Amino acid sequence: MSKQKYERLFSPGRIGKLELKNRMYYPPMGTNICVGGEVTDRFLAYHEARAKGVGLDIVENANIDTAGGAGLPFGLNIDDDKYIPGLKKLANVIRKSGAKACLQIYHGSIWVKPGQRPVYGAELPRELSVDDVQFIIQRFVEAARRAKAAGFDAIEIHGANINGQTQFRSRVWNTLKNKYGGSLENRARFMCDTLKAVRKEVGKNFPLWCRTSIYEIFYVGDGKIAEYGVTLQDTLVHAPMFVEAGADAIHLSQGGFYDYAWQYYTMCPVEAHGIAPNINMVEQVKKVVNVPVLAAARIKPEAGEQALKAGKLDFVGFGRPMEADPDFVVKLAAGREKEIRPCIHCNNCIETLAWADGVACTVNPAIGREKEFEIKKASKPKKVVIAGGGPAGMEAARVAALRGHQVTLYEKSKKLGGQLIQAAVPPHKSEINNLIDYQVNQLKKNKVKVELGKELTAAEVKKIKPDVVILATGVKPIVPGEEVPGLDTLSNVVMAEDVLMGKKKVGDRVCIIGGDLVGCEVAEFLADKGNQVSVLRRSRFMADKMNPDMRMILVDRLKQKGVRLVPGVLYQAAADTGVRIHVRGGITSMAEIAADAMKNIIADTYVIAAGATSNTDLAEALQGKGGPKVVSVGDCVEPRRILEAMREGWKAALEI
Ligand SMILES: Cc1cc2nc3c(=O)[nH]c(=O)nc-3n(C[C@H](O)[C@H](O)[C@H](O)COP(=O)(O)O)c2cc1C
Ligand code: SF4
Repeated sequence: MSKQKYERLFSPGRIGKLELKNRMYYPPMGTNICVGGEVTDRFLAYHEARAKGVGLDIVENANIDTAGGAGLPFGLNIDDDKYIPGLKKLANVIRKSGAKACLQIYHGSIWVKPGQRPVYGAELPRELSVDDVQFIIQRFVEAARRAKAAGFDAIEIHGANINGQTQFRSRVWNTLKNKYGGSLENRARFMCDTLKAVRKEVGKNFPLWCRTSIYEIFYVGDGKIAEYGVTLQDTLVHAPMFVEAGADAIHLSQGGFYDYAWQYYTMCPVEAHGIAPNINMVEQVKKVVNVPVLAAARIKPEAGEQALKAGKLDFVGFGRPMEADPDFVVKLAAGREKEIRPCIHCNNCIETLAWADGVACTVNPAIGREKEFEIKKASKPKKVVIAGGGPAGMEAARVAALRGHQVTLYEKSKKLGGQLIQAAVPPHKSEINNLIDYQVNQLKKNKVKVELGKELTAAEVKKIKPDVVILATGVKPIVPGEEVPGLDTLSNVVMAEDVLMGKKKVGDRVCIIGGDLVGCEVAEFLADKGNQVSVLRRSRFMADKMNPDMRMILVDRLKQKGVRLVPGVLYQAAADTGVRIHVRGGITSMAEIAADAMKNIIADTYVIAAGATSNTDLAEALQGKGGPKVVSVGDCVEPRRILEAMREGWKAALEI
């Protein structure tokens, strides 16, 4: 029984006067769906879904001063009394769902240094005077008054990750000459003064705490650490000061700078970081404070349970896991762990955060669109056939079956998963296998009939007479033609997917033709095996169609592993003596052209990773034949990411 397995996670806890039914919380997770800064119906539905199992729901950073720092375009605001009624509704919805409601309050500004990317801040940056700081603290006090009036059970002051108040603690960012900058003690003063002022406003019994970074790293662009803005040692001094100033708990996170990519990578660790990468530092902080410690960051249930048992922390946050599956804790409680839709730690939720339409999740199309994607029983069950067992086809099958339709899925290979199978092979991508397992289990659970090793044909459709056909037939790989003259004369050419699937061997020196996501990932896969790898790309930038933040991390890693990346390539001729290229990108002088522009890449094996084109064979065969309704989803419409495949699959099934 799951409750016994996670006995500690499901044991009650307390923060100050706040009684919590268990040790799990939903950490603040920005959504960018609060139009006009208001609590919207979408936002209510988002929290209603996620407050179901956890003891505590900490609502994302509400902006205390939109004029001074705008934050996200559709972020939540609390800088005016007009927001109180909406916030009241939100606190009630959270409590009705079973959790206690906490609001994180923050100043949506960030200081800008030369060479750093400017952000959403409303004004040009200038050095803060003591009066400026007092002004900001007063905004926190007013926001706290509003949060309490709205009925929140607790308030968290945001001082972690990336924003103005976080930077007070940083020896790199904080260059103030007044009492808020300089010494270790001065760098804690802003948070201490804010806590004291807010405590005075909300009273001594009201649950109040702060979030702070265990450490803040400054990178130098290629993943190397230049210096620490905040060290663990600083935090071991600052955390007790925050408690002394009135914090009932310490909520930990971590920050990283150079570019947003590195901040996100540090705040939201990925598979490359391992499980619960910061837990031992969290334990160090816990040892120096006498209040509960909360922490998230790639903590899985087993690791959380162990950490609680070992006394390393008091409450465990599940952020991205609950973005991916709002029923995460409910399913854990019921011992239905295999039914949890897994977060694959791709960080697309961070990348999409600033999109006009709000946050999106690769595996959960319903995030922030809970009502729009609600799965309701169909009024009349229909006979549905689906061609293709990749992410789009499986998602369509799952949702259609849940709606009560009679679903058969055809997959021409012997295995479900489609392109996910090869996508899970490169380094740090194995969590994609969890998504395959989840989808396969869902098909079983929801009694989808799966025909493996059988390709759906137009003749079969005619015979079965379904009401609806969903095509999720995926892609066919592109083999370059005249773009790479002479390629067809080479004997040592293999396809990227065959390399990943172990169907083809490569020699020591490998040249990859095509440097988008697949080409770069195959490069890392081979570099890790000790191959000497070059990647050629015609566009100016490597892997520029993938999530831009994760792209930067991947490209830096490839450089560190000695992969030769050559963007801006014009292929001249391929022959047994090598692939002759002209490099267009970055060439600025005649001397460079002479020295560098013409290259001959010699390799033992050439790997084709030149992208893919939609497989529309069945769509064409069914076209104009009358018969059932036909809908295409995923890559057979246009090759894109898992995110679009999952979304279109779900949506198509809702529309049957
Ligand atoms: C889309 C997104 C938005 C986030 N917004 C906030 C925020 O508003 N405030 C905050 O303190 N942390 C924010 N975080 C960080 C999370 O609270 C959490 O620390 C992080 O996701 C790591 O935990 P996890 O591995 O359980 O996801 C955000 C993270 C993501 C992915
Ligand atoms: S977008 Fe990726 S990282 Fe974010 S919750 Fe979804 S699966 Fe996890």
